[in-house]
Amino acid sequence: MVPPSSLVETGTTIRIATTVNSQFVEIDIDSRASLLDMLRERLGFTGTKKGCDHGQCGACTVHVDGRTALSCLTLAAKANGRTVTTIEGVAAGDTLHAMQRAFIDHDALQCGYCTPGQVMSAIACVRQRQATSKDSIREFMSGNICRCGAYVGIVAAIEAAASEMQEG
Ligand code: FES
Ligand code: FES
Repeated sequence: MVPPSSLVETGTTIRIATTVNSQFVEIDIDSRASLLDMLRERLGFTGTKKGCDHGQCGACTVHVDGRTALSCLTLAAKANGRTVTTIEGVAAGDTLHAMQRAFIDHDALQCGYCTPGQVMSAIACVRQRQATSKDSIREFMSGNICRCGAYVGIVAAIEAAASEMQEG
């Protein structure tokens, strides 16, 4: 049966201009594409992981204009005129971000699949002054699921990085 014309998908190609990891990018993309697919499939930033693709695991967490965003639930079009940071953009050259170093120091990962999203949320947790106690950290990080159960190390890493980040 032919669907009513109002139900036919009408994705069109749009041009967006955005800044990803300090690089200005102009890209033609399907208006229905997710930010996650744009980052991974079109721009090659595969550090951001696709877990559930339904907003439930946090593996795809990035920063948009400095705030956390689930890139699987964010239209690529929403990045137009904004600044996007992925895990590839947090280190300064060969120098790891304090949070990345703390994750290594505190064994805050096993398979590492959730780690990019965890690190992006963890940085936001400190920047938004929510790393004030273990409970507060757990609450802030509750949208990031780790199937390996590395939560103890993750909380320890955030506590350790928090003082360094707040000094800096
Ligand atoms: S992949 Fe986006 S929340 Fe799971
Ligand atoms: S370290 Fe394996 S999913 Fe978190």
